[in-house]
Amino acid sequence: MTKPNGSTEKQKSEFKGAGRHNGGGMEKESIMKKAVILIAILTLVATGLFAADGAAVYKTKCASCHGPDGSGLTAMGKAMKLRDLASADVQKQTDKELNTWTADGKGKMPPYKAKLSADEINAVVTYIRSLKK
Ligand code: HEC
Repeated sequence: MTKPNGSTEKQKSEFKGAGRHNGGGMEKESIMKKAVILIAILTLVATGLFAADGAAVYKTKCASCHGPDGSGLTAMGKAMKLRDLASADVQKQTDKELNTWTADGKGKMPPYKAKLSADEINAVVTYIRSLKK
């Protein structure tokens, strides 16, 4: 992907320029408008595609112990006496704390900072927030 911000900026200033002069500029202006909208949509789509998917990370890396719903009611989770990730006790912790437990581990919980990017860890913490009842 080539710098989406750079090109959007450029389109914006060209668009402003097209709007300033009068007469005969209408068609050009609407083409510019369409181009700006198209670039905005493409940027959004690209951001969506490349954003870390917290749900997918959770399902592949965390659900084996914490359970698909975070309840920890798996064989592994029961043996390790996991707290329900949706519970108030877990949810009352800050994003930073949940982030730290995921990155650095906690007790028998393995650290994930070598396996997940910072973006993925943030995304999976956001996903844990979504489990809250
Ligand atoms: C091998 C099993 C296992 C896997 C896989 C695992 N965890 Fe854990 N997790 C644990 C254990 C055990 C604890 C409890 C640690 C403690 O409190 O001593 C824990 C605790 C946590 C906590 C703190 C919850 C609390 O009680 O405060 C968070 C947040 C967490 N895990 C997130 C994750 C995320 C996110 C993933 C996936 C990237 C993950 N875990 C994968 C075993 C696991």
